[in-house]
Amino acid sequence: MTEEIVTIKNLSFGYPDGQQALNDINLTIYRGESVALVGPNGAGKSTLILHFNGVLRSNGHIRLLGKPIDDKNLKWVRSKVGLVFQNPDDQLFSPTVFDDVAFGPINMGYSDDEVHQAVTKALEMVGMAGFEKRSPHHLSIGEKKRIAIATVLSMSPEILVIDEPSSNLDPRGKWELIWVLESLPVTRVIVSHDLELVEALCQRVIILDRGQVAADGAAKDILADKELLAKHGLAMAEQG
Ligand SMILES: Nc1ncnc2c1ncn2[C@@H]1O[C@H](COP(=O)(O)OP(=O)(O)O)[C@@H](O)[C@H]1O
Ligand SMILES: [Mg+2]
Repeated sequence: MTEEIVTIKNLSFGYPDGQQALNDINLTIYRGESVALVGPNGAGKSTLILHFNGVLRSNGHIRLLGKPIDDKNLKWVRSKVGLVFQNPDDQLFSPTVFDDVAFGPINMGYSDDEVHQAVTKALEMVGMAGFEKRSPHHLSIGEKKRIAIATVLSMSPEILVIDEPSSNLDPRGKWELIWVLESLPVTRVIVSHDLELVEALCQRVIILDRGQVAADGAAKDILADKELLAKHGLAMAEQG
C-alpha cells in the first residue's frame, strides 16, 4: 500500500471578499510521487497549496499523514510540508543564508549541532554549499530560489510543495533548478505553467481550472492531449 501524504476531501474555499477560489476539491498525494499542478491564471493553484500547510484553513477537509490539519498542530504541519513561495523574497528575510536555512530547525528546537548539520545538508542538496555567510538579498534569482528551497529542506519535510519554480528564470537557470528538483529524494507537488518543466519532473498531472479539478492522470497522457491542454489555457511548445 502506498502511504497517503496529503488527502483532500470536498475542499471548497472562498476569500473574505467573496471570491470563490476552490470548489469541492478531492485529491490524494502519495509518498514518492512527483505531481504537477497546472492551470490558467486564477485557477486556484496557489490558494490550494496554501491549504497544504495550514496558511489557509478549512477545518476537516485536509489530512496530513492521516491527521486533520487544525489550529493545534500547525507547527508540526509546517515542519512536514515544505512550502516554497513563488517569489523567494517572500521567504528570505535574514542577513545571511545560514540564518535563513537555520530558521526552521531552530524553531523546531534542534540542538546547535543538529542545526548546523541540517543547514549543511540542505545547502548541499540544492547545490549551494559554501553560501552560508552570503546575504540572500545579493544573490541571483536562481540562487535565491535554491536557498528558498533549502529553507524548507532543512526541516526534512515529508513533502515539498513549490509554486511556479521556473518563473523569472532564464533557460539555464530553469534547467539548473530542474536538475536540483529532480535530485531531491522527497515527494513533490510542483505548481507550474511550464509544461517543459512538468514533463521533465512529473509523472502525474492535475489540471485545476476555476477552482475545480478538471483532469488528474499520468503526465504522458495529459501532456499528449492537446485538446485538453488548450481547453484549460495550456500548451506544449511545438517540437521543432
Ligand atoms: N488574497 C486574495 N483575496 C481575494 N481573492 C483572491 C486572493 N488571492 C487569490 N484570489 C482569487 O482567488 C482565485 C484563485 O487565485 P490563485 O489561487 O492565486 O490562482 P492561481 O495561483 O491558479 O493563479 C482568483 O480568482 C484570485 O483572484
Ligand atoms: Mg498562483
